[in-house]
Amino acid sequence: TWTATSFIQSSVEALKKELGNDKVVLGLSGGVDSSVAALLLHKAIGKNLYCVFVDNGLLRKNEFESVLHSYQDLGLNVKGVDAKVEFYQALAGLTDPEAKRKAIGKIFIDVFEREAGQIKDVKWLAQGTIYPDVIESVSVSGPSVTIKSHHNVGGLPEKMNLKVVEPLKMLFKDEVRNIGKELGLPINILHRHPFPGPGLAIRILGEITAEKVKLLQEVDAIFIEGLKKAELYDQVWQAGAILLPVQSVGVMGDERTYERVVALRAVTSTDGMTADWARLPYEFLAQISNQIINQVKGVNRVVLDISSKPPATIEWE
Ligand code: XMP
Repeated sequence: TWTATSFIQSSVEALKKELGNDKVVLGLSGGVDSSVAALLLHKAIGKNLYCVFVDNGLLRKNEFESVLHSYQDLGLNVKGVDAKVEFYQALAGLTDPEAKRKAIGKIFIDVFEREAGQIKDVKWLAQGTIYPDVIESVSVSGPSVTIKSHHNVGGLPEKMNLKVVEPLKMLFKDEVRNIGKELGLPINILHRHPFPGPGLAIRILGEITAEKVKLLQEVDAIFIEGLKKAELYDQVWQAGAILLPVQSVGVMGDERTYERVVALRAVTSTDGMTADWARLPYEFLAQISNQIINQVKGVNRVVLDISSKPPATIEWE
């Protein structure tokens, strides 16, 4: 029978044999898959695993710093790369969702390639690919082809003459979580909701600016922290806030305001392919809405997305 312990034991042995004294580079995303892949490889080859964690400026509030610390605490050989400005520059003026995704993917590859190029004699590229990704990438139809575009480093292995190692390729998500747990991955990474590679860029409808990112990070943090405090976080599959490209009239004291609108999105799902909007308690929603409007300057209206997938997607872009 399959157990996390036996899988770890046999795969560490196999990785040791396969990789020997070679150097391996891996891009960490903050998600479960790349983190577990890193821990497994670290157990097998230690400091010969070079992890790169890129701050694209599109992560949740304080996420980069806190996740980087977790990685360091786990003993990983990890380099944090602040590439915010590069990403914002590439995104300036772009409003089309696919154009934004492409720009983000391109800069990610540029940054990653530059970092990998600095590791002398690196021989392998490791990826946290899991079994459903393997299936997805061979399916021909629909948006699934581009879904993982951000972390798919495309032609890099050929270009840099790297061999590819994917230690989680035969596993499902729950198995990956079990292994992560066994390897000491902290809860904040282990039980985190899925988060799209292009991050907040596809939750800011229209053009991205650093100022809009900052605002959305504040709103999102209130929502996510609130879900955790109310013990609702684990009951939804994914949640976040969307910054809408409209302004609406409001009133504050005896003054008329004309400010931004944010939408809250929380869904239940098992795989993201279909989803239903989460029936969050009214009292909870009321409290979050008040908190957002009172604490985030520039937002005067909060709306709730009550669409299921299909036909609506989870993300708005
Ligand atoms: P949709 O919006 O298609 O999302 O219902 C399904 C799941 O995929 C995530 N998603 C992405 N993940 N790059 C990613 O890595 C992307 O471009 C992307 N677009 C959507 C979304 O967050 C949800 O979990």
